[in-house]
Amino acid sequence: MPNNMEILIDRKQIADGVARIGQEITRDFAGQSVILVGVLKGACLFLSDLARQIDLEATFDFIAVRSYGTKKESAGEVQLIKDVTTPLEDKNVILVEDILDTGLTFTFLKKLLLARKPRTLKFAALLDKPSRRQMPVEADYVGFKIPDKFVVGYGLDYAERFRNLADICIFSEDAGK
Ligand code: IMP
Ligand code: MG
Repeated sequence: MPNNMEILIDRKQIADGVARIGQEITRDFAGQSVILVGVLKGACLFLSDLARQIDLEATFDFIAVRSYGTKKESAGEVQLIKDVTTPLEDKNVILVEDILDTGLTFTFLKKLLLARKPRTLKFAALLDKPSRRQMPVEADYVGFKIPDKFVVGYGLDYAERFRNLADICIFSEDAGK
């Protein structure tokens, strides 16, 4: 791990949080199948761990968006880069995101996916920064509520770096050098 990075949520806590969400989804969709739609790239690691904690018939798909802005802030405009390839009509769809921050990305994706007429659309976010919300959206499944700090690791990046850290760390400019 880079110097000066402070761990906010360690790998054991992450595993426990992911297992709990997996149990909640397994319980809520008992007897049904689900499609997990991961938002690239940040949700990759979360989706792969979460999928193994869901004891249901499950398939995956991926979607990618770009939001313009700085390395830490989205500027408010979200653009679709890669769509899902699976038909979602009448399916139980669970959108899987690394973090719910302002809510702009989720608001955009919710509208896009609801237009495909899924049977249900749920939203699983590993992390939630409620203090930063600009849109009135909440996740159905949340791993951890966190304070207004910029975090990296377990899929989350700073300018594409640090996604491979096993723990979720508070990013410090010093460590980014
Ligand atoms: P929202 O549209 O503001 O809700 O932001 C969602 C996206 O912003 C996430 O999928 C992340 O890519 C990015 N993001 C927000 N907060 C952080 C953070 O603390 N670390 C890394 N990426 C973040
Ligand atoms: Mg990102």
